[in-house]
Amino acid sequence: METKVIKIDRMQLDKTLIQEAGNLLANGALVAFPTETVYGLGGDGLKPDVAEKIYKAKGRPSDNPLILHISDLSALEILAVDIPELAYRLAKKFWPGPLTMILKKSAIVPYAVTGGLETVAIRMPSDEIAREIIRASGTYIAAPSANSSTRPSPTKAEHVIEDLFGKVDMIVDGGNCDIGLESSIIDLSGDVPMILRPGFITKEDFEEIVAKVDYDKAVLAKKIQESVVAKAPGMKYKHYAPKGQITIVEGTKEQVITTINCLVKESEQKGLRTAVLCIEETKEQYECNYIYSLGSVKQEKEMGAHLFDILRTFDKDGMEVIYSESFDQTKLAGAIMNRLRKAAGYQTIICE
Ligand code: TXA
Ligand code: MG
Repeated sequence: METKVIKIDRMQLDKTLIQEAGNLLANGALVAFPTETVYGLGGDGLKPDVAEKIYKAKGRPSDNPLILHISDLSALEILAVDIPELAYRLAKKFWPGPLTMILKKSAIVPYAVTGGLETVAIRMPSDEIAREIIRASGTYIAAPSANSSTRPSPTKAEHVIEDLFGKVDMIVDGGNCDIGLESSIIDLSGDVPMILRPGFITKEDFEEIVAKVDYDKAVLAKKIQESVVAKAPGMKYKHYAPKGQITIVEGTKEQVITTINCLVKESEQKGLRTAVLCIEETKEQYECNYIYSLGSVKQEKEMGAHLFDILRTFDKDGMEVIYSESFDQTKLAGAIMNRLRKAAGYQTIICE
């Protein structure tokens, strides 16, 4: 398939280009576009055959449901039924933005999009390019993250080009994603609201307007537990992992630095290309040829935004072994560590 790559400047939206992307979507084509979280691989969310094409392009199992992206609140009542009052309060506070809500689906949402579930995931992105493209399409856009299944989510157009060039009709380059971690998912279809995926909107943020909210057990998992069935089907798949093995080292700052330096030495002696993943504040203390910093804890949003790009860079740089600090200093710790643990296949060393 021929893939057209176009650049859109978010400071000066080119309406003609937006409409071109919208028209492609309206005609059942696949268009990857930026959102404030990660790039999405979009297609018409009301057409079962388009959902099939999305799964195929991504190489994703089709029991893993897609999020429907909307540009106006009025779409909520078209796509969902039995909407609790809480959904409107959450929408008022967090939409447009990095929040996905799981609600009971209406009849027009095809099972091909929900992976056979009676519920549907809905999100209104705040990214202007995304919202304008959705609006221009005249439909609701099913969009998983625009990576090949199991690779880190894309936070730059070049990541999308790496994974999907030749597999989609258009890639819209809108620069780097602002947040760089996928949306927070809250399930409102049961009795108690449940966080299925942590993101930029944290449990504490939810608690400002939701009396009781819990984490799905799979979110908190520190190791793979076969007995814990993830409620968001996507959470059960291997994700984000670079080719090199990541090991997370936990403990006091001093313990972590000493342990990682020791492990690096052993690994380098074996002739393995070895990397350390840390923060600006500690990077001078490592003895390793390849040190990758997520950023400074003083700029927590940047830390989240850099994670997926660094995971991809490990592969580009041919890293075979990676030792990582545990990033528990900021409000985004839950979201960052959730992704990092998966990328590490939950391999962790706890310093005693
Ligand atoms: O930030 C985001 O949410 C990005 C951008 C493009 O909007 N999209 C994204 O989509 O991350 P995806 O498909 O990569 O992840 C969607 C997650 C999956 O883990 C999926 O299992 C879960 O949402 N999900 C979708 N529908 C669901 C449903 N009805 N019930 C439970 N989980 C659902
Ligand atoms: Mg994804």
